[in-house]
Amino acid sequence: MPRVSYVNGRYVPHGEATIHVEDRGFQFADSIYEVIAIQNGRLVDAARHFDRLERSLRELRIPVPMPRAALEVVTREVVRRNRVGRGTVYVQVTRGRARREHAFPKSPVPGLVVTARPTRPQPAALLAEGVSVITIPDIRWARRDIKSTALIANVLCRQQATEAGAYEAWLVDADGMVTEGTASNAWIVTRDRHLVTRTADHSILCGITRLAVADLAATQGLVFEERPFSVEEAKRAAEAFLTGTSSIVLPVVRIDGAPVGDGRPGPVARNLRAAYDAMAASAAA
Ligand code: PDD
Repeated sequence: MPRVSYVNGRYVPHGEATIHVEDRGFQFADSIYEVIAIQNGRLVDAARHFDRLERSLRELRIPVPMPRAALEVVTREVVRRNRVGRGTVYVQVTRGRARREHAFPKSPVPGLVVTARPTRPQPAALLAEGVSVITIPDIRWARRDIKSTALIANVLCRQQATEAGAYEAWLVDADGMVTEGTASNAWIVTRDRHLVTRTADHSILCGITRLAVADLAATQGLVFEERPFSVEEAKRAAEAFLTGTSSIVLPVVRIDGAPVGDGRPGPVARNLRAAYDAMAASAAA
């Protein structure tokens, strides 16, 4: 099956999917993106992803490339043309092509790229055994709520985690508080069953999986609490876990090499994952 991608108005073979060298997304990371999960050929939580995409564009004053309904049609068409049953679709909007100058071009024509690909099922061991994280300083910019493609800090931090043999890096602010992972949100479970994750202000990306898990908290008899937590508190927590489109919900069993709880995935993370999987499967049925 030849892969097909969408670039600036055309569906093209993936190998020919190219943008101009003076696209501002390429030169300045002047662009935003979304990664949406596909199950049974359908987008998971599409409305929330497109809401966030529009919000990112508004915050950066990048014009919408086309009305929402049309953008959804193009996104679904890329999924369809690639016959993706389970996978991800990637949508990127840039401020378009212009002579290289920092200030915005006078009449920007936004660029739009959509790609889709199948993914293998998540290795069962990740859920069964949990994952480890390291903690490192959060060296990113101050507007992490915008899903910008300026991801070099995330790339460097994730590489550090990979080289340390960890699944993810949890990023830590100047006050010793965890912000989030390089591509996931960070959570702890307190001994009195409070589900704690950082407030969705400018310091983190408000994950769509995070919102879905927050919705599920009450069904599991958990109290959802938005506040910062420290690395120390996380190490002493009953459980820890992370959420994201690719990771879904994964128990965190080691932080900087120290076990969380008994070092095994806990019941809260496992139950939330089961509830999330059931919800996503029924939405995609
Ligand atoms: N990353 N925080 C950051 C910094 C992220 O990059 C992501 C997602 C999340 C989780 O958001 P969501 O639940 O909406 O996926 C949190 C995507 C998947 C990526 O860059 O590949």
